[in-house]
Amino acid sequence: MKITVRIWRQAGPQEQGALVAYDLDEVSPDMSFLEMLDVLNERLILGGQEPVAFDHDCREGICGACSTVINGRPHGPEQTTTCQLHMRSFSDGDVIDVEPWRSRAFPVIKDLVVDRAALDRIVQAGGYITAPTGTAPDAHATPVPKPAADTAFENATCIGCGACVAACPNGSAMLFTSAKAAHLNALPQGQPERESRVLNMVAAMDAEGFGGCTNTGECVGSCPKGIPFQSIVDLNRDFLRAARRR
Ligand code: SF4
Ligand code: FES
Repeated sequence: MKITVRIWRQAGPQEQGALVAYDLDEVSPDMSFLEMLDVLNERLILGGQEPVAFDHDCREGICGACSTVINGRPHGPEQTTTCQLHMRSFSDGDVIDVEPWRSRAFPVIKDLVVDRAALDRIVQAGGYITAPTGTAPDAHATPVPKPAADTAFENATCIGCGACVAACPNGSAMLFTSAKAAHLNALPQGQPERESRVLNMVAAMDAEGFGGCTNTGECVGSCPKGIPFQSIVDLNRDFLRAARRR
């Protein structure tokens, strides 16, 4: 395949950025999107040019690092991560635009790399439980009902990629925050901090500059892990109950 990639190049946080076009021949449909960028970077390095900075780690859809907007969609045309996207999802002759996540809370560091530490600070505000230290508790000392375990597991699959924020017209982090709250709120071990958790995590989300949720649902359509809209519904319910009691 022959393709043209137009990639956002930005030398640093305070520099002006612009889309720069690169033509690539002999792109295999079996390459992942990141392997295609590797090929481009090899060519740039051999030509004495600055390679494209992009974030990646696991390359198997579990770390959430590979945050790029492809043709206007976070992670591109398939509902997966950029590292799990393959060039067979594109056609010979395509022009593909590649940009960093766009959100006030995710400042650009360089090219396609953004600072997503704001998501970590939301987790720090409430993504924990209190457990006694010392001897290990007996196995099955706290029975967990199957539906609760399923809800917790489903929400724990959130990889913190931030695609939900990049997709949202308000730049809201509600889907991420609701997943991180729900995976603890569903479990018996998460009950003591349930109310303070939702109040503190939502306050942290607001303080980081994420927008409010207006139920557009773009987040759910872009989430590579299928975090459901129900998690936002549950967070809103828990937040209202906690705020009334405060
Ligand atoms: S909710 Fe989905 S889109 Fe948002 S950070 Fe988690 S995995 Fe990524
Ligand atoms: S590089 Fe880890 S999810 Fe894509």
